[in-house]
Amino acid sequence: MNILQINSSARVAGSHSTNLANQVSARLREQHKDANFVLRDLAVTPQPSLDETALQALFTPADQRTPEQAARVALDDALIAEAQAADILVIGAPMYNFGISSQLKNWIDAISRAQVTFRYTANGPEGLLKNKRVYVVLTRGGLYRNTPNDTQMPYLKNFFAFLGMTDVEFIYAEGLAMGPEGEQRAISDAQAQIEAALA
Ligand SMILES: Cc1cc2nc3c(=O)[nH]c(=O)nc-3n(C[C@H](O)[C@H](O)[C@H](O)COP(=O)(O)O)c2cc1C
Repeated sequence: MNILQINSSARVAGSHSTNLANQVSARLREQHKDANFVLRDLAVTPQPSLDETALQALFTPADQRTPEQAARVALDDALIAEAQAADILVIGAPMYNFGISSQLKNWIDAISRAQVTFRYTANGPEGLLKNKRVYVVLTRGGLYRNTPNDTQMPYLKNFFAFLGMTDVEFIYAEGLAMGPEGEQRAISDAQAQIEAALA
């Protein structure tokens, strides 16, 4: 049993999504005492964005890459290996400007690789990261759940399904910017969702 936690807040300290993801992982580790736990904190170790240099490296055959290109591809390879090995993924996902953080997008860009984590067949795309459970903790200053402005949840659901991960549970901490009481309510509510999801 391998548990992989991805922190995608820009904050190293004081992040609600990280705190709540920690609580999900702690609960899972109580339930799976022998589990191997891997933490990928994208605020501490930022994944570089998918720029032209990265694309050139990725599309150069492995035996023709420069040392710099090989090093850039190796950064993505490491994240792919972690995702492949994971049985359970726990993801802290803050909302920034109506979307996911660039930290999380860079992770998504890193692990999406044709023939490795997905492939196209005559019947359409096939995800190659199968038999995994995913918990996503969504943290927001405002309220978006079940409204058209919740662009994150459908996007992440589609993305995970594309890679073969269809068993995805979303935990919401919403209204975190709506005063101290709103913040406390958001956290308590998210904690109740964690308990219910992992009962
Ligand atoms: C740069 C930035 C942009 C944000 N944009 C939004 C937003 O569009 N909608 C929203 O509800 N909250 C927004 N927030 C509030 C965050 O979602 C909230 O503070 C959340 O707790 C951040 O996650 P974290 O605590 O894990 O860092 C934003 C916060 C920051 C710092």
